[in-house]
Amino acid sequence: MLSQVKKIIAIASGKGGVGKSTVTANLALATALEGKSVGILDADIYGPSMGIMFGLEGSPELDENQHIIPSFSHGVKVATLAQLSPADKANAWRGPRAAALVNNLLNYVQWGELDILFIDFPPGTGDVQLSIIQGCKLSAAIMVCTPQNVALADCIKGIDLFRELNVPILGLIENMSSFICDKCEKEHFIFGKGGAKKLAQTLGIPLLGQIPIEADLMEGGEKGLPAVLANPNSLGARVFGELAAGFL
Ligand SMILES: Nc1ncnc2c1ncn2[C@@H]1O[C@H](COP(=O)(O)OP(=O)(O)O)[C@@H](O)[C@H]1O
Ligand SMILES: [Mg+2]
Repeated sequence: MLSQVKKIIAIASGKGGVGKSTVTANLALATALEGKSVGILDADIYGPSMGIMFGLEGSPELDENQHIIPSFSHGVKVATLAQLSPADKANAWRGPRAAALVNNLLNYVQWGELDILFIDFPPGTGDVQLSIIQGCKLSAAIMVCTPQNVALADCIKGIDLFRELNVPILGLIENMSSFICDKCEKEHFIFGKGGAKKLAQTLGIPLLGQIPIEADLMEGGEKGLPAVLANPNSLGARVFGELAAGFL
């Protein structure tokens, strides 16, 4: 199913809530705006976000071989468990079942030709993450963290998992780096300052970019129209544009 996909890039962190899904959605859209054909596999099976972030409703279509046809939203192909499981039911699966399900997602989505498939990873370093890494040939991983020590500590574990399994780390994106007040322009370092830069130096990986805290970034995800499209002139959207143009 992935034979016509040129590059597969994991967006991961080790920790939840740091902005993996927000980064995946916006980076994918910014990459599509660069003229590339792009897909997103939402592999966060316990908390899939791409349904809401891309405004997807209903079940995906199946082809004649019962393979899932990814939804096409804002120019990007998206496959997410949000469309395959009831929104009000917990996906209460033990490790082996969760891992099998992720393998099904890898094996039964008909992606067709793609320049880049982004995989929005679930938090943690367990069964599901291992299954994805071993179930497809990842080209590289991009790690997302916030400046806080509690996020950086989990990110170190996440980076180690990819390194152990010989997946190259493209670099680190620091999300929620700072908040710039729209009244006085003062920059506030709400989650601390300089954490990702230091981690990147220590581990010898590039710091790819720093995304500010912006209501636009949050609102875009809530409304199904991520900030890269809804507010292309916002600082966050511009950083995603630079990232997409610069290294993908
Ligand atoms: N740069 C940002 N500015 C404002 N809100 C953000 C930013 N990045 C993420 N968020 C918000 O933080 C929450 C967690 O982000 P999410 O992308 O879901 O993280 P993860 O996928 O790592 O769990 C979401 O409510 C999202 O809208
Ligand atoms: Mg997420």
